Amino acid sequence: MQLESGGGAGLGLAIFFLLISAGNAAAADSANGQRLAERWCAECHMIAPGQQRASDTVPTFAEIGGRFDETTLATFLASPHHSRMPNLSLSRSEITDLVAYIKGLER
Ligand code: HEC
Repeated sequence: MQLESGGGAGLGLAIFFLLISAGNAAAADSANGQRLAERWCAECHMIAPGQQRASDTVPTFAEIGGRFDETTLATFLASPHHSRMPNLSLSRSEITDLVAYIKGLER
């Protein structure tokens, strides 16, 4: 009896953490990602079809979405990197939203 209830508590905890991470994934807001992209990325990147001005030497968000998966994009945006692309300090939720927006452009 003692053992059984202990196991139950462990499972409850596992489910609790599962729900938390599922909640985070569901909270990805690509509309907010678009707002962030317009503000922070559009100066260089073509972030949406029909954008008037962007640098022609920078990959478009549609290209980027086709080239990288979610994890790679999130890792790239979260860590300092050495490329012509500046290091932006984005929060985790901003990154989640931006990645959702970028991946949404692919189709
Ligand atoms: C000052 C210009 C500039 C801004 C602002 C900018 N980028 Fe970039 N970005 C670049 C350039 C240039 C590259 C190409 C990197 C290279 O060729 O070294 C790039 C590449 C990337 C890549 C692909 C990385 C790779 O390895 O090819 C991603 C993803 C990306 N940018 C996301 C973003 C996001 C998201 C934002 C806004 C939060 C943003 N960028 C803002 C200039 C910019």
